[in-house]
Amino acid sequence: MHNAAFAALGLDWCYLAFEVAPEHLRTAIEGAQAMNFAGLNLTVPHKILALDLVDALDESARTWGAVNTIRFEGQGADGQWRRLSEFAADGADAPVARRTQGFNTDADGISRSLREDLDLGLRGKRVLLLGAGGAGRAIALKLASEQVAELFLVNRTQSKADEVAVEIRLRFPALPVTVGYPPDAVDLLINATSLGLKPADALPLDLDRFPLPRARAVYDTIYRPATTPLLAAAQAAGCRTANGLGMLLHQGAAAFEIWTGRSAPLAVMRQALEQSIYAR
Ligand code: ATR
Repeated sequence: MHNAAFAALGLDWCYLAFEVAPEHLRTAIEGAQAMNFAGLNLTVPHKILALDLVDALDESARTWGAVNTIRFEGQGADGQWRRLSEFAADGADAPVARRTQGFNTDADGISRSLREDLDLGLRGKRVLLLGAGGAGRAIALKLASEQVAELFLVNRTQSKADEVAVEIRLRFPALPVTVGYPPDAVDLLINATSLGLKPADALPLDLDRFPLPRARAVYDTIYRPATTPLLAAAQAAGCRTANGLGMLLHQGAAAFEIWTGRSAPLAVMRQALEQSIYAR
């Protein structure tokens, strides 16, 4: 999606994937900086490790406790930090210092996707969230920050859901949080577990304790396969559904804007994603 976006905007940039062992993350970031990269995306397990490796943390990375986007920056003679790409290529205006800044675009990705793909604003909604791993925790905090009315957390390992509930009560004391299934209907059910990635996976919830017709809308953060067993069951139960492709798109679009300072061409990026993931 990034390469399609660079091409659409006529930028002579490219986006590449590198597999880096966690013990080499620091060296890899320094190497990319030495090679004048514009920035990096990081995925598991680097998102948490990078918190301690970058020179500055944007508010988003501090809030969510993880870094999925790094921008390489230079300090101008005026003392201001700017993107490295904003300095003259001929070295006429070379940076006096360099730094790395860490951002997190994951959390905004989900609320934008819910708004666009399910036409659902989070404020005032009752939400059942399945999963309390890295993704589940970040989504739970995002839901709380967007002022949902009530939050129910369910996770295979209940102690992890308890920990997320404790963190939310501390940071958002006005929000009622329950660990366990809701007794009645919710506006939204979100799957943030990894169940559904493999065809043989069980559903991520117990239908005896929460029948799907009780959810008005169901969002699966998984995007491959496009229709997970949960989404198929939710569609059969008459719920509105969306998969996690929009979340992937919007976290990428936000990173694109951080690196380039240009508006992301969303339609181009979505089409490139759909083509590469679903071969459409
Ligand atoms: P991520 O960063 O994608 O959230 P993670 O931190 O490993 O990855 O979290 C995976 C989530 O999927 C967790 O909520 C996990 O439940 P546990 O906390 O009990 O491990 C959930 N999960 C993974 N496999 C599962 C399974 N077979 N049944 C139920 N939940 C599962």
